[in-house]
Amino acid sequence: MKNYEVKVLGTGMYAPKKIVTNVDLEQIVETNDQWIFERTGIRERRICSTEGGEFPTDMAYHATLDALKASGLNPNDIDLILFASVTPDVKLPNSATILQVKLGITNNCACLDIAAACSGFVYGFNMASAMIKTGMIKNALVIGSEMLSREVNWKDRNTCILFGDGCGVAIIGRAEEGSSSKVYSSVLSADGTGGEFFDQPVGGAVTPITATHLNEGTHYMQMKGKEMFKVATRTLAENAHKVISEAGLELKDVNWVVPHQANIRIIETTAKLIGMDMEKMIVNIDRYGNTSAATVPIAFHEAIADGRIKRGDIVLFDAFGAGLTAGATLIKY
Ligand SMILES: CC(C)(COP(=O)(O)OP(=O)(O)OC[C@H]1O[C@@H](n2cnc3c(N)ncnc32)[C@H](O)[C@@H]1OP(=O)(O)O)[C@@H](O)C(=O)NCCC(=O)NCCS
Repeated sequence: MKNYEVKVLGTGMYAPKKIVTNVDLEQIVETNDQWIFERTGIRERRICSTEGGEFPTDMAYHATLDALKASGLNPNDIDLILFASVTPDVKLPNSATILQVKLGITNNCACLDIAAACSGFVYGFNMASAMIKTGMIKNALVIGSEMLSREVNWKDRNTCILFGDGCGVAIIGRAEEGSSSKVYSSVLSADGTGGEFFDQPVGGAVTPITATHLNEGTHYMQMKGKEMFKVATRTLAENAHKVISEAGLELKDVNWVVPHQANIRIIETTAKLIGMDMEKMIVNIDRYGNTSAATVPIAFHEAIADGRIKRGDIVLFDAFGAGLTAGATLIKY
């Protein structure tokens, strides 16, 4: 069977218009700008309008238009939509199919949602690139889009200060003859035994939401921050080392790391464990907080848009999230 190389053809992002600063949060929960910034690196986050126009598939629609423009493709050139989100517009149908209609795609392309929390985009990227490599599909649209503001408890200062809304996308496809772009190596992993560190047990088939849950606020996401922190740094560093050595490359060959943005201290500790300079870590957590599946594609897109990431650069995606899921990919952009 022929093996094709994979290329990132175009990227895009959408950040909701409303900015909520740490000072704004001081009015909602007992916290302060200094604590949040020092412990997390976050200054502000974006929050979707609840009036419409900024739901996860709306954000994905806008981000995809930019990615299509950058890639020079038409909507009907997309053969697969992978939509990573833990906050889909609705339970059924899946977000990928809703987006297919919004984009006017009429080729009946496959549409799948990925529930791998903060690792969702990297999971999607790896799955799509495997299908491109084998020639099964030509072009895939991979999305991370989240409206976490709907799922956090705005009365819980341990979690509400951390999260934000947003969307990032990448269109990846078969690299043309002579292109140096490629996916070198990737790893997807999960350790389900840590599921309870970050979960939302109410609202599924086992425990439907009742009036009591709504009154008590027990239907929101809940997290054991310290436990997540420890596993996150260890796993992010392990996976980074794995993909670099599998590619037969060395640390010095890597131009940029695009890590999941959960906490600046997680990024700094991971950089230390990998042995990477902080200057090579793409960081934007100060402006968006943790947007789950959207952090990696947003940071990737911004670094391309402002000229830091250039064609030919070797870029490492490194993500970790609830589940506990994790994924890393090493590409030549
Ligand atoms: C959540 C997190 C920022 C908390 O930071 P921390 O340094 O562990 O802080 P602690 O939980 O130990 O809290 C320290 C103190 O600050 C207080 N505190 C917690 N949240 C606060 C807030 N928003 N504002 C002010 N004080 C706060 C705590 O009550 C505690 O007070 P105490 O010592 O009197 O009990 C950090 O653990 C973290 O980022 N974890 C990982 C997050 C993550 O991985 N997310 C998802 C990955 S996909």
